[in-house]
Amino acid sequence: MSEVLREKIKQKKAKIGIIGLGYVGLPLAIEFARKGYNVHGIDIDLNKIKLIQQKKNYIKDVLNKDFLYAINNKLFTASNTYDKISNQEIIFICVPTPVTENKTPDISHIMNSAGEIFKRMKRHLLVVLKSTTFPGTTEDYIQPLFESKGWKVGKDFYLSFSPERVDPGNKMYNTGNTPIVVGGVTKKCHELSVMIMQEVSTKVHQVSSPRAAEMEKLLENIFRSVNIALVNELARLCDRMGNVNIWEVIEAASTKPFGYMPFYPGPGIGGHCIQIDPYYLDWAAKKYDFHTKFVELAAESNEEMPYYVKDMVMRELANCSVKASDANVLILGTTFKRDVDDPRNSPAIKVIESLHKEGIGNLNFHDPYMRNIRLMDKIFRVQELNEKLLKDADVTVIITDHSTYDYEWIFTYSKRIIDTRNAARKIRNNREKISLLGALNHKIS
Ligand SMILES: NC(=O)c1ccc[n+]([C@@H]2O[C@H](COP(=O)([O-])OP(=O)(O)OC[C@H]3O[C@@H](n4cnc5c(N)ncnc54)[C@H](O)[C@@H]3O)[C@@H](O)[C@H]2O)c1
Repeated sequence: MSEVLREKIKQKKAKIGIIGLGYVGLPLAIEFARKGYNVHGIDIDLNKIKLIQQKKNYIKDVLNKDFLYAINNKLFTASNTYDKISNQEIIFICVPTPVTENKTPDISHIMNSAGEIFKRMKRHLLVVLKSTTFPGTTEDYIQPLFESKGWKVGKDFYLSFSPERVDPGNKMYNTGNTPIVVGGVTKKCHELSVMIMQEVSTKVHQVSSPRAAEMEKLLENIFRSVNIALVNELARLCDRMGNVNIWEVIEAASTKPFGYMPFYPGPGIGGHCIQIDPYYLDWAAKKYDFHTKFVELAAESNEEMPYYVKDMVMRELANCSVKASDANVLILGTTFKRDVDDPRNSPAIKVIESLHKEGIGNLNFHDPYMRNIRLMDKIFRVQELNEKLLKDADVTVIITDHSTYDYEWIFTYSKRIIDTRNAARKIRNNREKISLLGALNHKIS
């Protein structure tokens, strides 16, 4: 009965299962444990389970003290098998939702997790899907699977969607202080989901259905994708004009206190969200004979940026009469975003791979957060950043502007710099060496 689960939530006695212990699942698990719940995490990645068992925290945004508190007080356990699923009363699904090679949604991780739950679920289980996905996943895929047991949603089990908003590297907002959106399939599903989400968030915003919540998450990320594509287009235009600096323009526009928020150009977008989510909506829309042209155009435009940066490098080499086969190019920053250790879908990978295809003789890369980088299906070690590495490079390309880099020092020893992030904004010396994306040929002062 839903009243029993309601009472257990009130008393913090509901047993919580988290499937997928990555950037989303682990912080959520630790947040529930911090609030006094017993949490069991499941991940098919045995390495993650071993790290947890060795009390080693592998997500930078999770505070070590919270992680150790949860483990030492036996509030958080983890396994790579689903055996303990039948003990859980509330389960969160936090598994990846990538796209296939042809950019169609791959919800196989969600459906595999749902299948494992299905085999073991007991009556009155609440399942909350957190993975970002297209509208209809919860109700058209998970609900019929669970109901094929002969059970009824809202009566025998409860189901909802509540999108995740964790922003790795964000020092101000975390799982605990970011508002959460919830949409349940039925009234009971909804009420229970709101109750449990209120345990880990100060503000829960309720929507009328899982579909609305699924769409809301896509809107958040597509909003970013479209705006980034817009500034990337303007940056390329400024490069073509040669006498306007996009960074100066954005700074000026940002002084407007209403109706504008700044987005910045760059070498392309990566990670597990903004780069992928537009394709989920685009695919779902086609079923309704609807082409989300705007969304698709933005995604396409953003995908062009790493190749645009590659062209910048090739032009720079041509300008200084260095042949591709003799060229030495150094890439700084290989993770997808500043100050995070996540290399997923990083534009750096596309820039490096496309430079490799151009036959660049010597390609080096460095990132303070990465020891290795997977390129062309092989693992490469990142180099140590020193004066020699900088001096030897014909061009140094800043892809990810980590705040730990000493840019004065980098610019002193580099011969030429391509700056795709305006990392140079505070540097006064050696500015003549810099080619800035969005301000090419524009005299930097
Ligand atoms: N990372 C973010 O910043 C972020 C933010 C908001 C939403 N999201 C969304 O949240 C979801 C998860 O993202 P993430 O970044 O945590 O991914 P992740 O890759 O960091 O973690 C997912 C984990 O799920 C595990 N997994 C995969 N299939 C499994 C299965 N069948 N059973 C158990 N474990 C399984 C993987 O081994 C991995 O450890 C995605 O849909 C993503 O789009 C991510």
